[in-house]
Amino acid sequence: MSVQNVHLIAAARPNFMKVAPLWHALAAAADFRPVLIHTGQHYDANMSADILADLGLSEPDFHLGIGSGSHAEQTGKVMIAYGEVASAHRPDWLVVVGDVNSTLACAITGVKLGIPTVHLEAGLRSRDRSMPEEINRIATDAVADILWTPSPDADTNLAAEGVPADRVTRVGNIMLDSFEMKRPAIEAAAVPQSLGCNGRGYGVVTLHRPVNVDDPAQLGRLVDCLAELHAELPLVFPVHPRTAARLEAAGLDRRLAAAGLRLLEPLPYIRFMSLVSGARAVVTDSGGIQEETTYLGIPCLTLRESTERPITIQQGTNRLATPDDVVDLLRAALASGGHGEAPARPEYWDGRTAERCVEDLRRRTR
Ligand code: UD1
Repeated sequence: MSVQNVHLIAAARPNFMKVAPLWHALAAAADFRPVLIHTGQHYDANMSADILADLGLSEPDFHLGIGSGSHAEQTGKVMIAYGEVASAHRPDWLVVVGDVNSTLACAITGVKLGIPTVHLEAGLRSRDRSMPEEINRIATDAVADILWTPSPDADTNLAAEGVPADRVTRVGNIMLDSFEMKRPAIEAAAVPQSLGCNGRGYGVVTLHRPVNVDDPAQLGRLVDCLAELHAELPLVFPVHPRTAARLEAAGLDRRLAAAGLRLLEPLPYIRFMSLVSGARAVVTDSGGIQEETTYLGIPCLTLRESTERPITIQQGTNRLATPDDVVDLLRAALASGGHGEAPARPEYWDGRTAERCVEDLRRRTR
C-alpha cells in the first residue's frame, strides 16, 4: 500500500482548530501521512504556538515565517514561499482550511502546480464583498478541486455557483472535533473560577474585524456599547492584537478599563473554550465563535451586518446585532435564559468530521 502525503496549511488562529483533528486522523491512518505547514501569518505565542501546543501540534514540518503585512504582501509572500516547499516536497494532496489570506494563497499555488487541492470549510458565503474573507472564500472555492462543506447552506451556495456535485462532499464542522477532542482538558481548566467568575455570572467579548476596530469612531461607539453591556452582565474581553493596538492608539483602552471590563491578553484554545463554556452570553465579531456558541447552546450576539454562517441563526443561538440594538438584545437573551429556543446541533456537527474527511480522501484516491 502506498502512503499518500497530505500537506495541511495552518496560518492564523482560527485555522489551528480546523487543522488539528485532520492532522491527528491522518497520522493515525496507515495510508496517509500529514505534513504540517505553518505560513506564520500569526506569530505571537498566544495567537499561534500556545494554541498549536494545546491541540497536540507543537512542531510544524515547515514554517514559512511570513508575518504581517498588507493583503497583497501577505498573500504574495505565502504564494512564493509555499510554491518553493510544494515544488521541492510535492504532496499527493493539499488541504487548505477556512478563509484567511494564506488559505487563498496556498490554494492558488497548489492548483497551479497540479496538486489535487481540497478546501475544508468550503461554500460559506456572507455576500459581503467588503470583507477580505468573503473574497478569499469565493476565490478559494473557485480554484480548489474538492470542496468539503460544513452544512447544507454551503452545498446550496456552491450548487448555485454552478459547482458540479462530484466536487463537493459535506463533511460537517471540523472545529467541533477539536472541542470534543479537548473537552476533558477544557472542563478541567476552570478558567472562570480562576478569574473569580462563577455561576455563569459573566459574558465574553471578542472583537477584531477591521470594519469594527480600524475606524476610531466606530470603535468608540462599540466601546460605549460594551460599557453599557457590562452594566447588565460583567464582561471579560480577551483582546486581539489588532484591537489592542487600535484601542491604545485612540486612548479607548482606558475607557474600557474605567468602565470595569476585565481586559485579558488573547487566550490559548483550552483556556478560551473554558471561559466561553461557562459564559452566560457572548458578544463577538468572530466567525468560529458563532458556531462554538451554537454548539454549546450559549446566546451569541454577533456585531456584524451579515454572517457567512446563517445556520447558527436558523438553527442555533446566534443573532446579528448593531451598536443600536445590542444592549436590548442582550437584555432579552438574559431575560429568556437564552434566545428563547432550545439549542439544536446541525447535522454532522458531531466531533467526527475528520473521519469523514479521511474517508473522502481514501474514496477519491482509489
Ligand atoms: C486574520 C484573518 C481573519 C481572522 C483573524 C483571526 C485574513 C484576511 N484575516 O485577521 O479572517 O478572523 O486572522 O485572528 O487573513 N498581529 C500580531 N500578532 C500576531 C498576528 C497579528 O500582533 O500574531 C497584529 C499585527 O499588527 C497585524 C494585525 O494583528 O498587522 C492583523 O493581523 P493579520 O494577520 O493581518 O489579520 P487579523 O486581523 O489577525
